[in-house]
Amino acid sequence: MSKSVPYGVTAVVLTVVLCTIHTVYGSDEGEGKALYEEKCMICHGQNGKGDGPAAAALSPPPKDFNRPEFWNQKDVDQVIINQVKKGKGAMPAFSLSDDEIKAIIGFMSKTFKK
Ligand code: HEC
Repeated sequence: MSKSVPYGVTAVVLTVVLCTIHTVYGSDEGEGKALYEEKCMICHGQNGKGDGPAAAALSPPPKDFNRPEFWNQKDVDQVIINQVKKGKGAMPAFSLSDDEIKAIIGFMSKTFKK
């Protein structure tokens, strides 16, 4: 009598494990980075300095995300969420979910916060 686990069960278990690993460790940062690069980088720049290709045409231009005052302000996550949902000045509003914006914030704070 064989004791081996049927392939189907193995495949299902593996899929669940891999998805869990992806959700817990991988997706936020990767998703946040991808979203930032797709939606924000053209103005805010690859290094968050407000020097993206479109920034020169904006008045006032975006400020530098690397400055400590930006990250030190009260409820900075909520400030960013509101800014992205409502837009301001030359920045348009984006229809992104809270989770998507939080993923972007995760990427931004990891990459730009000093
Ligand atoms: C079309 C260019 C453009 C795009 C695209 C853009 N922004 Fe902006 N953003 C701006 C400008 C311009 C300002 C400054 C607005 C003002 O204060 O008048 C700004 C300001 C901000 C601020 C406030 C920053 C501060 O220093 O106080 C945040 C936060 C922000 N943007 C986040 C984002 C995120 C996140 C994305 C992507 C989802 C994004 N922006 C996409 C142009 C852009």
